[in-house]
Amino acid sequence: MSKLQSIKGMNDILPDQSPTWQYLESTFRKVVARFAYREIRFPILEHTQLFKRSIGEVTDIVEKEMYSFADRNGDNLSLRPEGTAGCVRAADQHGLLYNQTQRLWYQGPMFRREKPQKGRYRQFQQFGVEAFGMAGPDIDVEILQLGTALWQALALTEYLSLEINNIGSAQDRQRFGAALTAFLEPRAEQLDEDARRRMYTNPLRVLDSKNPAVQEALQGAPELADFVSEESATHYQRLRELLESLGIEYRENPRLVRGLDYYNNCVYEWTTESLGAQGAVCGGGRYDGLVQQLGGRPTLAAGFAIGAERLVLMLDSLDKVAASYRQSVDVYLVAIGDGSTEKSLALATALRGAYPQLRILSHCGGGKYNNQLKRAFASGAALAVILESEAAGSEVVEAARIRRLDDSGETVRVALDAVVATIGEYLTKSEA
Ligand code: HAM
Repeated sequence: MSKLQSIKGMNDILPDQSPTWQYLESTFRKVVARFAYREIRFPILEHTQLFKRSIGEVTDIVEKEMYSFADRNGDNLSLRPEGTAGCVRAADQHGLLYNQTQRLWYQGPMFRREKPQKGRYRQFQQFGVEAFGMAGPDIDVEILQLGTALWQALALTEYLSLEINNIGSAQDRQRFGAALTAFLEPRAEQLDEDARRRMYTNPLRVLDSKNPAVQEALQGAPELADFVSEESATHYQRLRELLESLGIEYRENPRLVRGLDYYNNCVYEWTTESLGAQGAVCGGGRYDGLVQQLGGRPTLAAGFAIGAERLVLMLDSLDKVAASYRQSVDVYLVAIGDGSTEKSLALATALRGAYPQLRILSHCGGGKYNNQLKRAFASGAALAVILESEAAGSEVVEAARIRRLDDSGETVRVALDAVVATIGEYLTKSEA
């Protein structure tokens, strides 16, 4: 019988890979805590309608990438393709939005049925932040400061660049969209099938096309900047001033429109050159209309989400994860002979109690001395504690050998009841 494999584009994270994930997760948590954001958790499964009404019917995500199915009672449900919609639904449902400000963060798997390639998967993790009830642009800048602080904490600043754009209000974009359609109609021949369809359904998305022929046809097209309202332009101008005053570097990209429909005013993306085609590691912006669009009271909002796999790829390829994160065992207990089993398990408990920061591995399953020691070396532990009965056939264990697992092979013999204290001395020595 053939073995079952994981679903294409859905990856396992194996123990050797998890230190990078843990490093990233703990760094993200520290940074959001420094900005006083609070965690929110919401379901992975929601009514399909939630995503249709927020992300937009005519977007790649909703048109062709959602994992949707009818529940047994006929409800149409979807695995969440992103976090903003669920976050808004949850916050509004529980009354966190009306007349309040909120700074929230979340983390978890998202699902999009895209064509898998390096940095693009069908199940992927996002870290997101969403802020509600603030007009900005100070809150927009705070969110960008948070991103900047995260890149600094991860030592990735030099590999990432921030692009921003002002996409105006929904009405501004409608007027711009109409002008774009009018511009593209006489050039329809030069467009591909996708662009020809989008020219009517969602003309702004044509700007995003990766097809050089479509980009060629867009030469001389109307510019969104010429259609944005004064209010929107003022917000954006102030945002840029604040970024400059804080020394946050950015580049304006008038073609940046984002793949989800709920945005207005400022949108942004951090991209990297170091990942090939999937260079966007973080994207977001304001979405002041979304809460109301989903049935809530009008609530100002802004946020971004980070693609964790892309950061993990960067951290690994740039070797940015401290070796201490990769360490999984500190002290390896070797137990030779029946008499030592009980002593070894008890010693492990005593060591774990005395040094909670240490990872103590107590060898299980028996085996010869050489085999156990080999495992101790392979574990990466710094020290082995070897418990062995005093004489062949004897069950008496009164002393242990503590051995450095390095080239020195330095070994000391100590009484069993002195092991915990001696390990402490080794620790102080290695810290000094
Ligand atoms: P997004 O740009 O669709 O925005 O996704 C955010 C990030 O998730 C991307 O920049 C990318 O790093 C990562 N990502 C997206 N799709 C994949 C994939 N198939 N495989 C791996 N990584 C992926 C949003 O999702 C918005 N909800 C962001 C937001 C929050 N806007 C306001 N608040």
